[in-house]
Amino acid sequence: MKRRQFLAAGAASTASALFGCGGGGGSGGSGMMSGGPPAPRAALIEGQPLPTLPSLSNTSVDPSQFVASLSAAPAQLELATGSRTGLWLYNGAFPGPLIELREGQRVSVRVENRLSIDTTVHWHGLPVPPDQDGSPMEPIPAGDTRAYTYDIPAGTAGTYWYHPHAHQTTALQVARGLAAPLIVRSSDDPLAMLPDVTLFVSGVRLDAAGQVSPMSPVDAMVGRQGETLLVNGKRLPVHNVRPGTTQRWRVLNATSAHYLRLSLEGHSLTLVGTDGGLLSAPQPGQSEILVAPAQRVEIVVRISGTPNARFRFRALRHATDSMGFGVYADEDLMTVQTSAESPAAPVALPATLRALGDPGPATAHQRLQLDQGGMGMGAGMGMLNFTINGRTFDPTRVDLTTQVGRIEAWDIVNNTMMDHPIHIHGTQFQLLRRQSGATVTAAPFPAWLDTVDVPAGESATIKVRQTMPGKRMFHCHILEHEDAGMMGVLDVAV
Ligand code: C2O
Ligand code: CU
Ligand code: CU
Repeated sequence: MKRRQFLAAGAASTASALFGCGGGGGSGGSGMMSGGPPAPRAALIEGQPLPTLPSLSNTSVDPSQFVASLSAAPAQLELATGSRTGLWLYNGAFPGPLIELREGQRVSVRVENRLSIDTTVHWHGLPVPPDQDGSPMEPIPAGDTRAYTYDIPAGTAGTYWYHPHAHQTTALQVARGLAAPLIVRSSDDPLAMLPDVTLFVSGVRLDAAGQVSPMSPVDAMVGRQGETLLVNGKRLPVHNVRPGTTQRWRVLNATSAHYLRLSLEGHSLTLVGTDGGLLSAPQPGQSEILVAPAQRVEIVVRISGTPNARFRFRALRHATDSMGFGVYADEDLMTVQTSAESPAAPVALPATLRALGDPGPATAHQRLQLDQGGMGMGAGMGMLNFTINGRTFDPTRVDLTTQVGRIEAWDIVNNTMMDHPIHIHGTQFQLLRRQSGATVTAAPFPAWLDTVDVPAGESATIKVRQTMPGKRMFHCHILEHEDAGMMGVLDVAV
């Protein structure tokens, strides 16, 4: 099978080479399993101003503490004109409230489950103890409440998110609206002078009656298809800015399965951060940046100096399966609209952002092999099934073992016909290299990730270390794959 070209020359390709690949691959089919024309969809309200997401308020007067409450409950919102969409929301907000934390804080969040099924809150990317991590091992039953308590260590500053992680219903709960951003700030942020804009990208798919449509057989195979992309809960919002302004954008991919190949018309982007926070140095000159499901990036953009101009912030077509199941196209996310004011002066970025060291040499190896099976051909509705090391998730089984502090190289080998964003709980890791056929490409610069894209037919090698004992999940972050068992348990010994 032909796969993609993944190292081109020049700075413009570095971010793409880090996260995956820039060029579209695979064949975008039209959903051969779905049969018949697509169902009519309710039209979402478009073109409203980009909202600033409200923050969850801290009820503690002690600044070293963050104390708050969340409730996960059914709610209704007018997403399409004239219909009330039934959603499941944190504190009634879509997306849920932004949690803003500071390094060194102790966090205590009380969560009330007002849904009719189990839920959890998983603090995606944060180094929280295993029993506070909202893993499927620790459900909050319907009607119950629990508190999550953890510390935010120094060096954690970055962009994270929180979402449910209940056994086999994560995709359903996120599709209904349960997901939200979380930002950790440090006291010595080298980019503190820039306006800080959170762009939380999620997807919604409504039926003709304006209700969230159920999972289809194609969704179950390649992840949720045909979602309309939203930014901060809105369809094609308008971001109004003074021309020439330099801004820091934190972009979160909270979709189940939509890879975001980000580009801003007429602009080049400077990548400054990834899942676990800032890079060691800005990476300017990116024409596009690929953000796999669950990943985050921090981008610095100097908006055009042209007054009264409009630019589309887009997610370019990026096919992730070569089986003809997924539908892939260029999508618009948001419009940047410059005002009539005179252009703002440029802002110089520091040449270095922070020391982002090598954790040290790996002293052990692990291998994750991704395989697919189960396409019963004459069966009409044969379902694909994806495995890690030949197995699907069993909460009572331990799949891999490690020790606190041990630095390991993990080879993640994708033998399937689609790309999988692989996520490990409890830590941030670094990509070392990718391999496609005989071609090995080193990561272009070090970066902290908690999710790495592993394209079909390729492999990725990461350096990873766990800092707390207990059981950790690792899984594909296409939520339908996770729910179907493309997940394993890592037991971390003291
Ligand atoms: Cu964002 Cu195990 O998840
Ligand atoms: Cu996670
Ligand atoms: Cu997957």
